[in-house]
Amino acid sequence: MSFITVPSAVTDNSTLSSYKSVDLEHTTLDLSINWDDKILAGSVTHVLKSELKSVVLDTSFLKIDKVEWQNKVVKHDVADRDSFRGSALTVRDIEVGVVGELKIYFSTTKDCTGLQWLSPEQTIGKKAPFLFSQCEPTHARSIFPCFDTPSIKVPYKFDIDSKYPVLVSGTRTVGSKFEQKVPIPSYLFAIASGNLKSKVIGLRSHVWAEPEIVDSCQWEFEADTELQLEAAEKLLFKYEWGSYDVLVLPPSFPFGGMENPNITFATPTIVSGDRTLVNVIAHELAHSWSGNLVTNSTWGHFWLNEGWTVYIERRILGQLHGEPYRHFAAIEGWQDLENAINVMPAEYTKLVMDVASDVDPDDTFSTVPYEKGSTFLWYLENLVGRSVFDDFMKKYFQAFKYKSLDSFKFKEFFIATVGDASASVDWDAWFYNPGLPPKPQFNDELLRVCAALSDKWTSPANVKNSEWKKWASKTDISGWRPLQVIVFLNLVTDKLGAIKTDANCASAIADLGAIYEIGQSRNAEIKFRWLQLAVKAGVQGTKEALAQWIAEVGRMKFVRPGYRLLNEVDRELAVSTFEKNKTFYHAICRAMVEKDLGL
Ligand code: BES
Ligand code: ZN
Repeated sequence: MSFITVPSAVTDNSTLSSYKSVDLEHTTLDLSINWDDKILAGSVTHVLKSELKSVVLDTSFLKIDKVEWQNKVVKHDVADRDSFRGSALTVRDIEVGVVGELKIYFSTTKDCTGLQWLSPEQTIGKKAPFLFSQCEPTHARSIFPCFDTPSIKVPYKFDIDSKYPVLVSGTRTVGSKFEQKVPIPSYLFAIASGNLKSKVIGLRSHVWAEPEIVDSCQWEFEADTELQLEAAEKLLFKYEWGSYDVLVLPPSFPFGGMENPNITFATPTIVSGDRTLVNVIAHELAHSWSGNLVTNSTWGHFWLNEGWTVYIERRILGQLHGEPYRHFAAIEGWQDLENAINVMPAEYTKLVMDVASDVDPDDTFSTVPYEKGSTFLWYLENLVGRSVFDDFMKKYFQAFKYKSLDSFKFKEFFIATVGDASASVDWDAWFYNPGLPPKPQFNDELLRVCAALSDKWTSPANVKNSEWKKWASKTDISGWRPLQVIVFLNLVTDKLGAIKTDANCASAIADLGAIYEIGQSRNAEIKFRWLQLAVKAGVQGTKEALAQWIAEVGRMKFVRPGYRLLNEVDRELAVSTFEKNKTFYHAICRAMVEKDLGL
């Protein structure tokens, strides 16, 4: 008997399922959305062959009603909860070595972490309720019993009954039926339903959103989406999924974007009215190759998903806006990497992380795999040269598409493809050294003006003698790209120590915000940097403004550091803001902030 669905030798400690002894061929989900009781109920059918008489699946806060093997009821039991890993569902008396149908009838409960149910009041239109999922990394098991590991991938069929329009991570066939022909891991399952409308944003793309905002969403994305897809196709190969759509969610969506196949989920904070945050779309569509076609086999090798995706995202930006812009985006990424390394435990600053069975992958999440991973790929590109690297990249994505792999397979394939050119790579240092990797040589063309202006503001004499009142004006930043404003604000924040004890510090920073009209920015990335800087500098009224803002956006990238900062300057304000707004946040976000605040 051969069981070929598990090519990676590395064990996924984040699943309780018996994925190593099953050969999974297909999965069908038949679900109906019960809006009154906030329940998803129905059945899942896994077509599989097992090496053992027992099959174990992941579940988390699910109610299991009945299990059938080949249409006959079989015994099952649901174990006690094992932390984030949930409750193992063991099914006995499965025929060994036979391909058959394992069908499980189940429903979700109010504790399921992968779903957020919004009341009409929590939506923009206030007319209908809204439901959306977020499965990565380990929350699919709270939506349906599954082998919840990125190491195995299967095609899906879906039949979803809802009284509102439905979107799932596949394409519609007929009526309430959808399919996903490309094999996908469980974490890429996605569902959303609510009062949704769509508009065209490209040759193969629509944006979906509540009717009240769908026009502004269309404007935000219609200029870039197809160009970005074409840039990615030029770099790699044809987009294999058919259509590429974007769903703009209500503000409690906990991420910037999520690369659900065929339908990227996105935060409304990227609809800024100026098309400046479309790099998030470039990132999510890049996942159509890195992550969705070629997948990390466990969460300890997450850089293979995110590092590659950041690398490709910036290559797309380089194609569309020039190579200096690519470098500049990497400079901003390096700033984020330095900050992340300062706050993360050393183990999770390694490229290859040990995600043990008692470690919740949500706790290991940071910018590190994104930026250290893309820095590593950048290093390899420089080492072997652009054309050799590009040839390797195409071959890699072709060779591993529809599969999952670990860093060791990556290494093996790189060495086999580029040969002697790889001789000097210190693989162990890149994989296992904690902390910052060697810094690449960035082209600093776009950085120089940001650095010079930040030096001017943070010079002790400038602040002490109120010099800025004479020289500072809006023209200091005219013609700047939004990313330059972000980098400038990051630099001022980094150098705040030099002026913080000066009695004029808060008024200098307040003026900086007013003169450059940064305080009122609609761009969430700028607004976030500004609020952080202003709160740290003690600008009056800004900690209240930060508290108000993180009560309106549920994106963890802003919410978590926002609460951590508030906690430092005013714990009472941090705790009371959280208590007042915790039902607004997604369960994943709520749990993380609770940990961050030590509640
Ligand atoms: N796949 C991630 C989001 C994610 C990561 C969800 C880990 C759950 C666990 C997505 O592609 C992502 O990286 N989003 C970023 C976008 C940014 C890097 C452009 C985000 O949400 O900020
Ligand atoms: Zn990503």
